[in-house]
Amino acid sequence: MKIVVIQGPNLNMLGIREQNLYGPAKLEDIHREMESIAKQNAMEIEFFQSNLEGELVDRIQECIGEADGIVINPAAYTHTSIAIRDAISAVRIPTIEVHISNVYAREEFRQKSLISPVVNGQIVGFGPLGYTLATIGLIQIMNQINANKQQQQAPKS
Ligand code: DQA
Repeated sequence: MKIVVIQGPNLNMLGIREQNLYGPAKLEDIHREMESIAKQNAMEIEFFQSNLEGELVDRIQECIGEADGIVINPAAYTHTSIAIRDAISAVRIPTIEVHISNVYAREEFRQKSLISPVVNGQIVGFGPLGYTLATIGLIQIMNQINANKQQQQAPKS
């Protein structure tokens, strides 16, 4: 089974941008940790980052038939993008939304997520650890869905 991790605008700047909010870890450090969890659980994992809304929509759409789960931090698009929300809704793949900072303790415009109504869960304010927690949670959901599928396919005796 495969997880696709989708990172929105400015997350390529982690380690440089506002360390007081996002910490010193770089995106590669976060991805390395996620990779190790995926490996331990025999999952494939792939990473994608873009600063462009349309590219994020394209990557979500490409997940159909490819991914069994998505971890997404839409970054600033969380608060503005109906297009990303619609894409997540359209693909019907279990999805976890992550925010490094506690968006609910920040400016008012960050306190609304257009994405949260269409995801399975949201992890907010744990710093980079949030990605680890999201990966663990998503793997549980994926394994459960897979087990249910196998049970349905098993011949009835
Ligand atoms: C963020 C929070 C967003 O409001 C912000 O625009 C980001 C990062 C987070 O991970 O805390 O770029 O998604």
